[in-house]
Amino acid sequence: MEGLEEARERLKAAQRVAVLTGAGISKPSGIPTFRDAEGLWRDFNPLDYATPEAYARDPQGVWAWYAWRIAKVLEARPNPAHLALVRLEEEVLSRGGAFLLVTQNVDGLHARAGSRNLVELHGNILRARCEACGHRFLLPDPFTPPPFCPLCGHRARPDVVWFGELLPEGAWEKSEKAFAEADVALVVGTSAEVEPAASLGRIAFAGGGYLIEINPEPTPLTPLAHLSLRMGAVEGLALFPPPAEDQAEGHFP
Ligand code: APR
Repeated sequence: MEGLEEARERLKAAQRVAVLTGAGISKPSGIPTFRDAEGLWRDFNPLDYATPEAYARDPQGVWAWYAWRIAKVLEARPNPAHLALVRLEEEVLSRGGAFLLVTQNVDGLHARAGSRNLVELHGNILRARCEACGHRFLLPDPFTPPPFCPLCGHRARPDVVWFGELLPEGAWEKSEKAFAEADVALVVGTSAEVEPAASLGRIAFAGGGYLIEINPEPTPLTPLAHLSLRMGAVEGLALFPPPAEDQAEGHFP
């Protein structure tokens, strides 16, 4: 495949690797995407569920929708694509390199897979945030929505970033720096339509980074990518096997 050999060499030699993932990487785990043919936004209007105004209007309805999504997340398991990124992180760190995985996903599957240098840009659906004191806490399983703050007793909201809201403190700065300095940037499973995450690929390219995209569909980032693999995350990431010595130790994706 044109360009794959160069991409492999670049990734093997890279000292600074930045990865951005979107809902597509979790689709093989049974978590719906948003804008795909069978994505969530086909059946649910984001303005009714994923904005502060929607929550103010109907907190029970928004919490019921998140409880439904949380149940799906709790049933799901990390898939080989999540695990391949854990192995990539280990490999880059073992050679003294820098690695950052930035995810738009709120399903927590990267953390469950074992990713360490991780930024959850849009928050985490398994956490709630007190509407009064801002305390963040993991939701008990099972839980009856709405949850109440264990510290001050006020009602808590999903600890996710809704449309029109700010990203978690420092998350954007850390992500932007990693992509601006990346030797290789991987963008996996995102439609690259939602800012500011969608800019990270362009920031890496502008910084001289080698940009690899993995997505069964083309995206606004495709024309910029040095290599755009028109395939799913599991298949695409499996094209970047660990160096031979790792195979001997059984580091299989
Ligand atoms: N492997 C990789 N990519 C896939 C796969 C797969 N198996 N299946 C589908 N895709 C791709 C689709 O082609 C699409 O480009 O995943 C992408 C999913 O795009 P979206 O549904 O728009 O999800 P995402 O890009 O993560 O959305 C960004 O928008 O709604 C907000 O906050 C929400 O974090 C979300 C943000």
